[in-house]
Amino acid sequence: MDSSHVDGELTSILITEAEIKDRLAELSREIEADYAGANVLLVGVLKGAVMVMADLARELSLPITMDWMAVSSYGSGTKSSGVVRILKDLDSDLSGRRVLIVEDIIDSGLTLSWLLANLKSRGPESVEILTLLRKPDAAKVDVDVRYVGFEIPNEFVVGYGLDYNEKYRNLRSIGVLAPHMYDGS
Ligand code: PRP
Repeated sequence: MDSSHVDGELTSILITEAEIKDRLAELSREIEADYAGANVLLVGVLKGAVMVMADLARELSLPITMDWMAVSSYGSGTKSSGVVRILKDLDSDLSGRRVLIVEDIIDSGLTLSWLLANLKSRGPESVEILTLLRKPDAAKVDVDVRYVGFEIPNEFVVGYGLDYNEKYRNLRSIGVLAPHMYDGS
């Protein structure tokens, strides 16, 4: 859907559909150069990364395979809890694989920092991270991220996979959620 369907619920559109598409194309060219000839496994982190994964995978001129993990680091609110648990594990064996984790957002960094260590312990040839969004001002731990789509301010963003209480994931752009939607004002 486009933002006209959530009128009054966003304060602004931060990144348009066209900007996301262009940036994923740029990142894809970098990935193609970096992983030429490699047997790449894209690991998507459910649910937020579904849109990035689908568009990135189709943009890449590389034969890849895909797998999915579900982990939880947020409650239903707007803050990271720091508690990470596996809700769904990978089906794939990572030994000898070139793994690229695909995420929608790195906020505190707690989820990715944990996930990186977890996947590295499974014997892959390499593990790198791609995230569409990163909030540098929200970082609680340093995570080594190879591909970043956009660095964004520390605001509550929704759309293109990102939700608030499961809503807005199908918004084509990325917008800032209006505070009255979550603070009761
Ligand atoms: C979001 C996002 C990352 C994590 C980032 O997922 O997809 O996995 O939070 O936060 P952090 O850097 O502070 O750890 P969420 O737990 O909201 O689940 P979802 O993808 O199903 O929406």
